[in-house]
Amino acid sequence: EQSIPVITIDGPTASGKGTIASLVAQRLGWHTLDSGALYRLTALSCLRRGVDVQDEAQVQHAAQNLNVRFDYPHIYMDGDDVSDAIRQEEVGNLASQVAALPLVREALLQRQRDFRVAPGLVGDGRDMGTVVFPDAPLKIFLLADAEVRAQRRCKQLSEKGISANLTSLLADLRARDERDRSRTHAPLVPAQGAHIVDSSQLSIQEVVNKVLDLWSGIAVPTA
Ligand code: CDP
Ligand code: CDP
Repeated sequence: EQSIPVITIDGPTASGKGTIASLVAQRLGWHTLDSGALYRLTALSCLRRGVDVQDEAQVQHAAQNLNVRFDYPHIYMDGDDVSDAIRQEEVGNLASQVAALPLVREALLQRQRDFRVAPGLVGDGRDMGTVVFPDAPLKIFLLADAEVRAQRRCKQLSEKGISANLTSLLADLRARDERDRSRTHAPLVPAQGAHIVDSSQLSIQEVVNKVLDLWSGIAVPTA
C-alpha cells in the first residue's frame, strides 16, 4: 500500500541502523523491518541444511522457503529461537555472500514489502531506499567511520559475553563493506534524495532526534 509512510535507513554494518530504526519506530508507533535479518536467516538456513552459498538456485530455494516468525525482539526459524544465532559474525559474512545473488534478492523482495502496514514502517538495510521502497517519503543514509563501527560492534559483542578481537572485526567489516558496495545488484549506495547522516560523533539520541526532525518537517506541511 503506497500511501502508508516508510522511513528507510540504509548504511554499512554497525552504523547504528537497527538501533535507530527501532527507536524511531517506537517513537512514532510504527512497525520495523530488519531486512538484514532475512539475509541472515537465508544464510543460517543454508548453513543448517548444508547448502553451498555459491549455488544460486539452491540458495534461492532456501530464501523462498524460509519458515520464519518475527516476534520482536525474537526471531524463530523452523520453530527454533534463532535471534542470537543469526547475529554471529560468521552468519553475517555468509549473509553478505548470499545477498549478492540476484535470485535471492528477488525471492525476498515481496516478503519485505509486505511489512508496509499502517500506520507506518521504518525499514533498515542496504537497499531500502533504492530498491525495496523507492517511493519512501524519507530516506536516511547512515554512515560512521570504519574504526568507530568496529569499536561499536566490539562493545556490543562483549556486552553479550562474546569475546571479539578489534583487529579482526575491523578487517571483516571492511571486507563486508567492500562486498556490499561493489556488487552489481542493489549495491550499498545512497538512494536519490537520501539524507546522509554521519553518526561517528553522534550519540544514539542525537541521531534519533535528527531523523524525527526530518520526519516532522515532511509530515507536518508548513502553511
Ligand atoms: O547488522 P549489519 O549491518 O552488520 O548487517 P545486516 O543489516 O544484518 O545485514 C547482513 C548482510 O545482509 C549485509 O552485509 C548485506 O550484505 C545484506 N543485506 C542486504 O544485502 N540488503 C539489505 N537490505 C540488508 C542486508
Ligand atoms: O544495524 P547496524 O549494524 O547498522 O548497527 P546497530 O547494531 O544498530 O548498532 C551497532 C552498535 O552501535 C550498537 O551497540 C549501538 O548501541 C551503537 N551505536 C552507538 O554507539 N552510537 C550511535 N550513534 C549509534 C549506534
